[in-house]
Amino acid sequence: MRAIDAETIELVETERINFPNFIHKKVLNKNLLIAPEYPTWIVLDDDEYDMFRILCEHTIEESLAIYRKNIHAQDPYSIRMSVLEKIFNNNFYREGFAQTQNEEIMDNIQKSIHINVINDCNMRCKHCFINAGRVEKQQIDIENILAKVRDITIINGYTSVTISGGEPLLHKNIFSLLEGLRGHKVSLFTNGILINESIIDKLQPLVSNIQISMEGISAEKYEQNRGYGNYKKVLQAINLIKAKNIPLYLAVTILPDTLLDIEENLVDFVKMLDYKNMQIRLNNEIEMSGAALHELDLRNYDMQHSNIVVFNLMKKLGKLGFAVEPSKVKNIRFKNCGIGTSIVIDSDGKIYPCSYFSSYHIPYTASAKHIIKEFNTINNNTSIEHIEKCKDCELKYICSGGCKINNLVKNKNMIFTSCNDDFKQKQLEKLVNSELL
Ligand SMILES: C[S@@+](CC[C@H](N)C(=O)[O-])C[C@H]1O[C@@H](n2cnc3c(N)ncnc32)[C@H](O)[C@@H]1O
Ligand code: SF4
Ligand code: SF4
Repeated sequence: MRAIDAETIELVETERINFPNFIHKKVLNKNLLIAPEYPTWIVLDDDEYDMFRILCEHTIEESLAIYRKNIHAQDPYSIRMSVLEKIFNNNFYREGFAQTQNEEIMDNIQKSIHINVINDCNMRCKHCFINAGRVEKQQIDIENILAKVRDITIINGYTSVTISGGEPLLHKNIFSLLEGLRGHKVSLFTNGILINESIIDKLQPLVSNIQISMEGISAEKYEQNRGYGNYKKVLQAINLIKAKNIPLYLAVTILPDTLLDIEENLVDFVKMLDYKNMQIRLNNEIEMSGAALHELDLRNYDMQHSNIVVFNLMKKLGKLGFAVEPSKVKNIRFKNCGIGTSIVIDSDGKIYPCSYFSSYHIPYTASAKHIIKEFNTINNNTSIEHIEKCKDCELKYICSGGCKINNLVKNKNMIFTSCNDDFKQKQLEKLVNSELL
């Protein structure tokens, strides 16, 4: 008797596969099958879905003959192989349920720290949610912030710390701050304009990685948003980072008027940079706050087309080894978005439970113990079990109820979800796309 091996189980050809309860949806012309409780999903084309339906009723052995008799598609053996692989690789069978875990409980999750050290900037990007450089200047006091990080570290341990702004390299004591953070995994988010040979020498021993932002790839589009004369400087920064072999993230935020430029030029640009220690963070979700609120007009922005462009670029960049892929985590029941898993300190000292600012924040004077306790509570209180609309949704452990700050901003309550057909459709499309990458 022939058996088909998976890592943890051997399925015997003379037996039927024991499938979990699942929901079938046609999304982007594919068949999306979701097993909500596991949670896991598979994506099948129409031939594969025909085979899957036969496998629901018959043994693996019988399935080939039945398929041949009723369906007449080319190469049923390969079709069956491909379906079986997807089933096993994604634990889409009842025995695979043993792999399912609940998300780590909030009290045990180590928190990352994000500090916006300054709200001033040497640029005036029209999409900037910080509104950097256009509002009253504020910067973090270094001694004070290091004391706060030390207090948090006593409870939370050494962690990932992101230093951002505004433009963090404008802070006059930035290197004292970075020195004081030794022991943590420090990421620096910068526009790169101030990076020169002496700055990069000083940064190298102090940071684990650097993120540089570009919204346009050609000089013309980059400079339309990030200012004339700056393209040469950002390229120089990238080359200096490359020369030191510091891990680099290129944050490419797509704006309506740079979509075409990014679509046409990003892949060639990445090939031209030829830097193996680089990953691209491609993002077309623009947060509509700060300058973006007044200076960007998204009314005629074709989001669906933009999603397709992102998907195709991710696929190409993935093949080249440069893409940060969307999360494909399965078999973990996520009960919330990331709210409360990071401690975000803004340049005015207010402390937020994620990078999306809102009326919900804690004063700087709060103790580390209080901050951590409060963020654990907010995460627990807004988890999926408390959201009436999500209780019976097949996506509940995958989407986990969407962004809680969005709910707060739009509906004045973190557990009143703004989910509508459009939002849900987007979640479903993300699942399909994540499998096609
Ligand atoms: C606020 S900036 C601060 C660090 C640095 N000044 C820079 O530009 O990289 C951090 C990142 O946020 C992105 N960003 C700014 N406004 C945004 C918005 N409205 N929506 C999405 N991303 C945004 C920027 O493009 C940048 O990659
Ligand atoms: S996105 Fe960064 S570089 Fe641009 S204005 Fe905001 S803080 Fe400055
Ligand atoms: S927010 Fe919408 S898509 Fe997400 S779990 Fe709730 S009902 Fe489902």
